Amino acid sequence: MGAQRAARAHDRVVEPRSDSADRVMPSPRLELDLAAVSRAFSAFRDALPEAEPAYAVKANPHPEVLGLLAARGASVDLASVGELDACLLAGITPARMSWGNPVKKPADVRAAVAAGVTRFTTDAPADVDLLARLAPGAAVTVRLGADDTGSATPFAGKFGVTPDEAAALLTRARDAGLRAHGLGFHPGSQQTDPDAWRRGIAAAARAVEHFGAPVAELDVGGGFPTPHAAGPVPDLATCADAIRGALAAHREVPGVGVWRPHLVAEPGRALVAEAGVLVAEVVLVADRAGRRWVYLDVGRYQGLAETEGEMIVYRLRTPGHPSDAPRGPVVLAGPTCDGDDVLYRRADVRLPLDLAPGDVVEFLGAGAYTASYASVGFNGLPPLPTVIRRPVETPEETA
Ligand SMILES: Cc1ncc(COP(=O)(O)O)c(C=O)c1O
Repeated sequence: MGAQRAARAHDRVVEPRSDSADRVMPSPRLELDLAAVSRAFSAFRDALPEAEPAYAVKANPHPEVLGLLAARGASVDLASVGELDACLLAGITPARMSWGNPVKKPADVRAAVAAGVTRFTTDAPADVDLLARLAPGAAVTVRLGADDTGSATPFAGKFGVTPDEAAALLTRARDAGLRAHGLGFHPGSQQTDPDAWRRGIAAAARAVEHFGAPVAELDVGGGFPTPHAAGPVPDLATCADAIRGALAAHREVPGVGVWRPHLVAEPGRALVAEAGVLVAEVVLVADRAGRRWVYLDVGRYQGLAETEGEMIVYRLRTPGHPSDAPRGPVVLAGPTCDGDDVLYRRADVRLPLDLAPGDVVEFLGAGAYTASYASVGFNGLPPLPTVIRRPVETPEETA
């Protein structure tokens, strides 16, 4: 991990405990602790050792994250040519890539094939036909529509098909010269109900029954939740138990026989969220119609997209204030002139009563879906830079 990869121009890498670097830190910024990413990867592998972990690049495509996960042996789930290029730059081999986005242009498929990608997810006849034309012989995984009840950020019907439609797509793929390789689903991100994986695996077993043959691979998606302010979430072991239990329950598929697919999981949030702290600054505090509004220098358009609909309520920390400082409710807003750029109106967010412009507010567990969502330049404000925190190497380690 020594060489610095092609980070975005506004990103930087700092060594921890470097006072001079701290003095020139931009605000807002995402501070990302690589050691925490590595620990999260180990925890995931330990919880679900039977699955091939394919990191969902969209959660945080920072070159340092991709490089680290590549070195740890992760596969990747890609959604675009930009993500493909980032993964190639990080040294990830095409054999460890799968194109997970069922919505693709011919140019996307051509680029993937040219790079050597051979695994694609699909969920529509026209997309199967596109793959058959431009990626003959490729391995196709059909995405099932999952019941994503319990997800904080559901897909709400955007992707996936029913089990009988999945079987029809597998047949169409096979007949068109593709490999009818697998079935998959995504239970919805930040999924707090382990039953969602049971439901998805049951649907996959029904698709196998309709297809009449066991497919080689089952992709149980991402969705593994991380802690936020909304309360406790099931841990990885609980989700893994649900997956294992459902696989055992559907080992014998009626009319087909034993089904023991190669298992793939696509964690995004679970590998990077807890590694990130989004550091922001108070710009203005104002009383409006009896409520205290706190305006920060970060908002919906610099990375806090998951606050839309108050889906994700981050844990907040105010480092300059003692933890027992008197607090009161606030409306928390971003810095742009856009009326939608309000992070929390309804959530019970309480901040110190003496919070003032210049004070720091930290969003914890913010390593996923923040920097990757930051829009380029809305309202003249720059996208969210990422500052990498590297583990400190002791002299013995470097010797
Ligand atoms: C196809 C696919 N796989 C995996 C993920 C990662 O999900 P999560 O971050 O909830 O683990 C996503 C996220 O949207 C996705 O669309």
